[in-house]
Parts: sequence; C-alpha cells; structure tokens
Amino acid sequence: MFLCTAIYGTSFISLVLAATISVDSSQSGNEGSKGIDGNTATFWHTRYTPTVAALPHSAIIDLGVSTAINGFAYRPRQDGNSNGNIGQYQISLSPNNITWSTVATGTFSDDASLKTVSFTSTSTRYIRIVALTEAGNRGQWSSASELSVTPTNGGTGKGSWSSIINLPLTPAAAFVMPNGKILTFSSFAKDTFGGPHGYTLTAIYNPADSTVSQLNVSNTGHDMFCPGMSFDPNGRAIITGGDDAAKTSIYDYATNTWSSGSNMKISRGSWSGGNGGKNGEIYNSASNSWTLLGGCPVLPMLTADVGGIFRQDNHAWLFGWKNGYVFQGGPSKAMNWYGTTGGGSQIGAGLRASDPDSMDGNAVIVVLPNGKVMITGGQTFAVPFSDNTAILIPELWDPATLASIVLPAHAVARTYHSFALLMLDGRVFTGGGGLCGGCSTNHPNAEIYSPSYLFNADGTTATRPVISSISASSVGVGNTISITTSSAVTSFSIVRFGSATHTVNTDQRRISLSPINTVGTTYTFSIPDDSGVALPGFWMFFASNSAGVPSVAKAFQITVS
Ligand SMILES: *[C@@H]1O[C@H](CO)[C@@H](O)[C@H](O)[C@H]1NC(C)=O
Ligand SMILES: *[C@@H]1O[C@H](CO)[C@@H](O)[C@H](O)[C@H]1NC(C)=O
Repeated sequence: MFLCTAIYGTSFISLVLAATISVDSSQSGNEGSKGIDGNTATFWHTRYTPTVAALPHSAIIDLGVSTAINGFAYRPRQDGNSNGNIGQYQISLSPNNITWSTVATGTFSDDASLKTVSFTSTSTRYIRIVALTEAGNRGQWSSASELSVTPTNGGTGKGSWSSIINLPLTPAAAFVMPNGKILTFSSFAKDTFGGPHGYTLTAIYNPADSTVSQLNVSNTGHDMFCPGMSFDPNGRAIITGGDDAAKTSIYDYATNTWSSGSNMKISRGSWSGGNGGKNGEIYNSASNSWTLLGGCPVLPMLTADVGGIFRQDNHAWLFGWKNGYVFQGGPSKAMNWYGTTGGGSQIGAGLRASDPDSMDGNAVIVVLPNGKVMITGGQTFAVPFSDNTAILIPELWDPATLASIVLPAHAVARTYHSFALLMLDGRVFTGGGGLCGGCSTNHPNAEIYSPSYLFNADGTTATRPVISSISASSVGVGNTISITTSSAVTSFSIVRFGSATHTVNTDQRRISLSPINTVGTTYTFSIPDDSGVALPGFWMFFASNSAGVPSVAKAFQITVS
C-alpha cells in the first residue's frame, strides 16, 4: 500500500487532440461540451425539463484523427448530486462514426469517483459510451463531469498502462524472481485472510508469455498472509511469520519448489502470534538456523498506535547496511540502527523529520533504472478495505530536480494490500488491493506500466539496446564484471530484485555504475567493495543508450566475496 499526497484533483488524461463531442440529449446549461472541457465543476446532463429524455443515452467523442487508445475514463458529476450517474454502460469504437465495435461493457458503481475501463489497444477516431441505466435507478438521466480516453503509447511522453491481467487470487504480497517471473500470494483463501490455516494460495505471472500458474502451497504448513519477506543471497524468497506466526517458508525459483525453513524463535504476526516482545532475531540461510539477538529490542521502534501493542510493532521498514547494521526507517517516527553481530545492538537514528508514525506510509519505492522514483496507488486518506479517494494517477519523482510529474492513470484502485515492483524488462508491475472477503474492493488482478523511456517522442516503441553477454553470472563484492551490448550505451545501473507487502520492500535498491574500462561496446565495472551496499543476492543489470532507453536487464548475482 502506498500513500501519496492529494494530487487527485482536476488534472487527468486530457483528450489527445482538439476533440469534439455529440450527445443524444442535453439540458440547456449542461451541454455535451461540458463533458470534455477538462473542468470537473461543469457537467453534461441529458434533458430533464420540460420533458425527460429516456434512457439509453449516448455520447460520441471525435478525436479528430485516428489514435491508438486502450482506455476510457468517466468522471461522474462532482457537485454532490448523484442524478444521472451512469450505471450499466457499453463502450464502442468506430473509425467513421458509422460502423461500431463494442470493446467493453459493465456497470459503474453509484458514486462520484473516477471510473476507468481498459481494453485492447485499438486505433480509432470515434469513441461512444452508451448509458443503459442510471446507477441508482433514480430516473432516466445520464450525466458526466468528464469523459476522456487513454492513449496507448508514450504519445503523452508519460508512458502507458497495459490492459488488466487477471489473477486467480487477490495478491497482497509479491516477489520479482531472478528469472523475471512474479510470485504473488494472498493467504489460505483467494479473497480473504484470518487465522493460521497451514497453507497459502500462490500465483506466478510469467511476463514472457503472459501466463499465470497457480499453486496451493501446503507442504510448509504455513499460512503466509501478512509476513516478513526477503531474498536470501541465492535469490530464494524467504517468507517468515504472518498467520502461521512462527513458520519460515522458502521458494526456490531455480527448482520452482517450496520448502520449510526452521521455525523462528519468536512468533511474528500480531494478528496471530501473540502480542508484544518481538525482539530481533537473525536467519542464517546456509545453516537454516535462527539466532535471537538480545541486543535488538523492539521497544525503540514501536509506534504510538491507538490499537496498542497489537499493532504498534507492525511491519518494520528494514534495510541492510554496512558492517552488519540494519537501518530501521519506520513506520515509527523514531529511526534506529540495529547491529546484527554478536548478541546484537541498537542505537537511535533520530526522528524522521516532522513525519509522524506512518503505518499507512510508504517504504515501497519502485525505483526505475534511471533513478527516478515511481509512486503509485494509495489514497488521499488511508482507510483499509476502501477505495474511496483512491489515487489512480501515479507520480514520478526525479531526485535530480526534486520535482514530480503525474503519469497516466491506471485502471484499478490499488489501496490497502496492493504493491508495485520493478520488472526485469524495466516495466512496473502493480497489483492487488483488498483481500477483505465479500467486500467490493478485492482486486484479483494486476497492471503493467511501460515508462516513457520505452517510447520514441512520436509515441512509437523505442528500439532498446541489448546486453548480449555478461562476463559472469556471479561476482563477489569489490570484483569486476563486464557486459557487452549490441549498440553503444551511455549509462548503467544495477537494481536489486524487489519484494513487496504492506508498504515494505526491504530488498530493492539501486546503484549507479560507471565503467572503469570500455573496449568497443564491452564495458567493465567494479562492484562496490561492501556487502552492506552491494547487498548479496540477485540484481538486474541495466544499460541505457543516449536517448535514455534501457536494455532488458541481465540478472546476475553478487556474493560476499
Ligand atoms: C456521429 O454521427 C451522428 C449521426 O450521423 C451525428 O449526429 C453525430 O454528430 C456524429 N458525432 C460526431 C462526434 O461526429
Ligand atoms: C489447499 O490445500 C489445503 C491442504 O491440502 C486444503 O485443505 C485446501 O482446501 C486447499 N485449498 C484450495 C483452495 O485448494
């Protein structure tokens, strides 16, 4: 889950060109043009006086020229009145305003939030929405504050979203594995959680062929809902605690198998592991053993949560650092250094400036190969299991300028129990939200964002440089590694594979590299000589050309030495 500031105002995907609109009916003062004027305070409304024009109603937008689009957005009237909210709808496309093909049908919920519909990218000039019902059955009206479309490609200069990828479960946690596949899971159930059940439903998305495989993991006796997650040095996913609060499960991508690790010394998962006393312990994945660290007390990282100790210790934001230290950056306003050598140690690292306790905050950074940070999902105000005030418009923050831009909207709200992760191919995978039983905010699906660096200025797909070879699949810290590319490249970075659940990604980090030697298109680099910086495990090697277009990354391993 992510929480952003309230950027969710009037800005939205503006119509690509000077669009025009025709409607079947309008009330004077609420003409069709009010539905594409970019002003959310005005709206189109069908005629209601002196006589009511009956449903169905329709609006046709003319983009002026044929344009590839893959989404439609409807923002209901924003004046506090619901009359005319569109319920059942049909979206159709036409090259000529004569022959139409329907690309989406469905029913919008009866509220004022932005509604988005995605479909397969199609070149079209005309888009028609037919309103078949009024969402609250209040009358024969239709109304719209704004109607707009999503251009498919980077024609906006801001990248684009894929269509929806359906998953067999609501993913609340995910790892991008070293083979590029994305491991997701929910709990014992596909759409809810609660209590130790001894098994977990998982789904793996394979970007190579867009397939999804499912597995009910029961051999580890572990309901992995709400766990701790981390990659070990060999790229194995280590999942600790959660609803079966003492358990450790290990997924090895190389063999596609699950196995049990040793139980933790302390059960972890306030929901089911007992309250309080969750002091530190450390896992040695080589010996499969846990060791208590008496010098790593949980007390300094507790929040002042009104729920008490039951949730004062939720999901620490932990990041490995030099000399065996772990930096804890939240969610408490206090930050701490925890030492993991000997019996452990703890020292305060001050407060996170004026930021309060932030259990609903964001320690999940999707950092892109170029160092820009994408922030996606969340709400203007965090409310579990609600999509009210959901933010559908991501931001891209540039650390060089400290400025953010807004990106095209995704289709589905990604609030509590959602995540986003950088993929091996430089795109961003975001999914989930919900896992609340019979509620209306379960999102058993995902979407993939293609950043603007994958497009040319005219919106066509950019040609990517290719890393044709890498000198070693594994390199020790402080040692050198070379890559050879198919064409000249100018910037390089390595990004560690990420894992995300409940606002936390302890794994991902990015290091910018400069070649120490270049021969033709073979570039040699020195990996930082510190395993606290170049954390052992699997990393993505990206090379970008002078236009900023990155290669698909090569996966490689960094070892302690
Ligand atoms: C589409 O065609 C209809 C029927 O001819 C016409 O009334 C309407 O104005 C056209 N819409 C647009 C946006 O060109
Ligand atoms: C998953 O496996 C467990 C243990 O074998 C079984 O009890 C449960 O019904 C299975 N759940 C599903 C959804 O297949």
